[in-house]
Amino acid sequence: MTRAGIILAAGQGTRMKSAKPKVMHEVAGLPMLGHVIAAVKAAGVGRVVVVTAPGAEEVRAFAASMGAESVVQDKQLGTGHAAACAAPLLGNFAGELVVAYGDMPLATAATFEESFAARAKAGMAIVAFESQSKAYGRVIVDDGFLYRIIEYKDANEEQRAVTLCNAGIMAADTKSFFHWAAKLENKNTQSEFYLTDVPTFAKADGVNCAVMIAEERDMMGVNSRAELAACEAVMQQRLRAKALDAGVGMLAPDTVYLSYDTILEADAQIGPYVVFGPGVTVRSGAQIKAFSHLEGAVVGNGSLVGPYARLRPGAVLEEDVHIGNFVEVKKARIEKGAKANHLTYIGDARVGAGANIGAGTITCNYDGFDKHFTDIGAGAFIGSDTALVAPVKIGDGAITGAGSVITKDVESNALAVSRGEQKQISGWAERFRSRKKAEKARKK
Ligand code: UD1
Ligand code: CA
Repeated sequence: MTRAGIILAAGQGTRMKSAKPKVMHEVAGLPMLGHVIAAVKAAGVGRVVVVTAPGAEEVRAFAASMGAESVVQDKQLGTGHAAACAAPLLGNFAGELVVAYGDMPLATAATFEESFAARAKAGMAIVAFESQSKAYGRVIVDDGFLYRIIEYKDANEEQRAVTLCNAGIMAADTKSFFHWAAKLENKNTQSEFYLTDVPTFAKADGVNCAVMIAEERDMMGVNSRAELAACEAVMQQRLRAKALDAGVGMLAPDTVYLSYDTILEADAQIGPYVVFGPGVTVRSGAQIKAFSHLEGAVVGNGSLVGPYARLRPGAVLEEDVHIGNFVEVKKARIEKGAKANHLTYIGDARVGAGANIGAGTITCNYDGFDKHFTDIGAGAFIGSDTALVAPVKIGDGAITGAGSVITKDVESNALAVSRGEQKQISGWAERFRSRKKAEKARKK
């Protein structure tokens, strides 16, 4: 059966105390909304509609970038009202529907799949979990099916004592869903149209709602910074467990920070306190040593990075490359076997195979207006503390003298030196010291 999804993302998220829309806050480097869209799509949902607040262009653009449509909820009148706003797009959709919240980034495709399976049997389905938190609506079950969901604020003492909570996933036949959503009323403490009242109208039409049980740690909703941090912790644990499972070596997994899209191949070895921003691939046999920070980078087979290295977007290390401590690489291809072991900046460059970059080397790539390219040939040897003023090209096998400022291209296998010539004055140091000592003695 064809499937559609509605993701609610128009709430103000005031409890975050942020200028940024709540669903755009990131977990493992991806906005929360992105996690929900990805999970829903992975559960076979072809059309996803995100409900946004007026003016939330950032949210709409992000939804579009993930292949979702969007619709504006003019006024934030509640979750039920928000879902009903998708009617112009999905009202005639022949198939089943899942409604989810944009602030539940830990929900997995499996949970959405299961909710569809449960609704196929019962007519409708919701997902619930055990929790003591006052943040969630209470799920009252009767005779094996949902009796009703009551928001904590609206609940009496007896209902508040119930620990079965509403996760915020609802699966139903699409046309029936909109039929019931149109009947919602706002007679509650918050004067909102609650999505959670939809099953009551379904029940009146003789349609039962199954209650699927999930784990709280997969279903947490994020309303505050503290809850966002708690979600992040769970997500990090998941990502680490997945990496370890896939054969990645980690000395201290709890100290490694991963992004949603980090690719670590089997037998990559990751040291303590390494941070992976979005877009990193580390190939098999590569080692990332402690305190390194990587984003938008590829580390080839057998390469060594760190400790204390920084790989920025566009850094591509081929096989057996060494990037050592306090080396920064940006938008540069470092070819097979090349080495930059200490205190170096390589940006907008190519470093040819087997080249050696001495300590303190800097590619001077920026003139305040434009970025310029440095091309270092295979087997070149760049002396320590060389400043390569781009655009500049160092031929294959060339050598630059330590401390040189290289402003002109260097031909293959040549030596380029640019520094004042060294002079020697015999005995000068000794004469200098005696003069100074004598001056000091006179003053006393
Ligand atoms: C909601 C549920 C509660 C559940 C909890 C799970 C309702 C009435 N309550 O409460 O039963 O236990 O989530 O985390 O549904 N939104 C809109 N438009 C609106 C209001 C909200 O799009 O007018 C969106 C928000 O952006 C958010 C989602 O709907 O992504 C949920 O809204 P929120 O205010 O966080 O609901 P909760 O109070 O957490
Ligand atoms: Ca919420």
